Parts: sequence; structure tokens; C-alpha cells
Amino acid sequence: MTDGFTLGFIGTGAISEAMVEGFIAGGFADPIIVSERSAKRSTRLAARHSNVTVYPDNQAIVDASDWVVLAILPPQALEVASALSFRAGQRIVSVVAGIKLETWGPLIAPATEVHRAVPLPPIERGLGPTAICPPNVDVEALFDSAGTAVAVDDERQFQALAVLSALMATFFEQVAVSAKWLEDEGVPGEQAASFSTSMFEALAALTRLENANGLKGMAEECLTTGGVNEQVLHELRDAGWFGTYRERLDRIMTRFDNA
Ligand SMILES: NC(=O)c1ccc[n+]([C@@H]2O[C@H](COP(=O)([O-])OP(=O)(O)OC[C@H]3O[C@@H](n4cnc5c(N)ncnc54)[C@H](OP(=O)(O)O)[C@@H]3O)[C@@H](O)[C@H]2O)c1
Repeated sequence: MTDGFTLGFIGTGAISEAMVEGFIAGGFADPIIVSERSAKRSTRLAARHSNVTVYPDNQAIVDASDWVVLAILPPQALEVASALSFRAGQRIVSVVAGIKLETWGPLIAPATEVHRAVPLPPIERGLGPTAICPPNVDVEALFDSAGTAVAVDDERQFQALAVLSALMATFFEQVAVSAKWLEDEGVPGEQAASFSTSMFEALAALTRLENANGLKGMAEECLTTGGVNEQVLHELRDAGWFGTYRERLDRIMTRFDNA
């Protein structure tokens, strides 16, 4: 676990709160400074954690921090960052969607180290991936303390990792539709939800135990000739379901390309 530095957040929105909770639960015990904006969240964080302090002024956060996490919305991000003076030796981590490393470079000078990260809401519970670009052992250690850091050198690969975050709602819908179908078949709601959530949890956990080659073969290994898994998989394949799914990912990639 990385420690021994002050971590400042510019923007205390939903994802900052999730990161702070995840990092602290993961063992981060050094000072954290959050901005007062979104007072409900910043007040809540400071009340819950003795190492969290709220500052009203963005520049004061930058001045007091060794690492600065930029977590404001894209439309405000460049204006907010342009108004700040960073210093040499600071490490900047931007979670702002769509703003490239080359854009941040001049804005953070004389600091030279900037990383992009895409944490996801489950980070609050120490779960899930955070995409990082470029790789850095300390940045990865921080995000590994609250989930799984996945670092790549190439910014387009990083963008592709971010595309997969567009699947969260669809996954929840799949679990919910499965539970609802059980209910429609007469299974009581509690049992329907319990079965659906437990099954998808178990299947997701099994994928984590496989290496990359195993992952590709997991569906096939699940098939029995003439069995029900074979029927559903083949019928969905024949209906173009997986092609449609991939096309949706292509479309998000294009959307990010054009952002
Ligand atoms: N939510 C996610 O799952 C997620 C995941 C990965 C990356 N991201 C990225 O993270 C960034 C933040 O997203 P979010 O979901 O946390 O948004 P959010 O909940 O809307 O939070 C944005 C925060 O920025 C604050 N802010 C606005 N102007 C500011 C200023 N001048 N100085 C200081 N703070 C200011 C807002 O304060 P007020 O409320 O007072 O205006 C709010 O606290 C976005 O760029 C997003 O793309 C989000």
C-alpha cells in the first residue's frame, strides 16, 4: 500500500467520495484534503474520517497536496485547472473523462507527471477495476488498495478500457430481468432476487479465476450437446446478439474518439 503523502481532491462529487471511501477502507491513513464544493459530500467525508479535511479554496488544496486528483466534470475541468498553479514534483491524477494527457501537460506545468484514471463506483467497496494511463507503480498501488488497477501505456487502449464502463447498466438490467422473469413464473420476489444475484455473482467470480485463454473457452466448456446452455448461447449467437453487443462497444469507442 502506498502511503506517506497528502492526497488532494479538486471536486468532491460522486466518484471522489467513492475513491476516498475505498482508499481509506483499503488502508490509506495519510492526510486527504477535499474541496468544499458539494458540501454535503465533503462534510460527510470529514465527519466519517479523521484524516479528511475540507478546504474551501482549490489553490490551497493544490498547495497542501503531494498528489492532486482532478475530479470535476469535463465542461469545467480545463477552466478550473487553468486557474491553478501546480509545482514541480507534484503528481496529478485526472479522472476527468475525455481530456487527454497532452492537454493536461501544459496546464499542470511545472509539474510534469500526469496520469489518467477511470475508477468505477464499486471502488467505494474496494471492488472493480480502475484503468490507468500511463502506468506507475505508486498510482497502481493506490488503486489496487481499493480494487484492481489495470494500467496501460497507450492512451487509446486506456480509452478502450473506459468503454467497458458503459456496460454497467446493461449488466444490472440483465440481473434484474432474470429475477423479474422468475417472479413472472411465480417465484416469490425474495427468492427470485436471491437466485439471480447469487448466480451472477458466482459466474463473475469464476471468470476471475481463469487466465485470459481460459476466459475465451469458458462458455464452450459450459456446453453440453443438446443442453439448455447450448440452446440459449447458439440461439443468441444466431440472432446476432453478440454482434450487436460488440457494435455497441464500437459506437462508444467512436463517441469517445469524437469527444
Ligand atoms: N461517476 C463516475 O462513476 C465516474 C467514473 C469515472 C470518472 N468520472 C469522472 O469524474 C469526474 C467527476 O464525476 P462525478 O460523477 O464525481 O461528478 P459530480 O458528482 O457531478 O461531481 C463534480 C464535482 O465537481 C465540483 N466542482 C464543480 N466546479 C468546481 C470548482 N470550480 N471547484 C471545485 N469543485 C468543483 C462539483 O461541486 P458542486 O456540486 O458544488 O458544483 C462536484 O463536487 C467527471 O469528469 C467524470 O467524467 C466519473
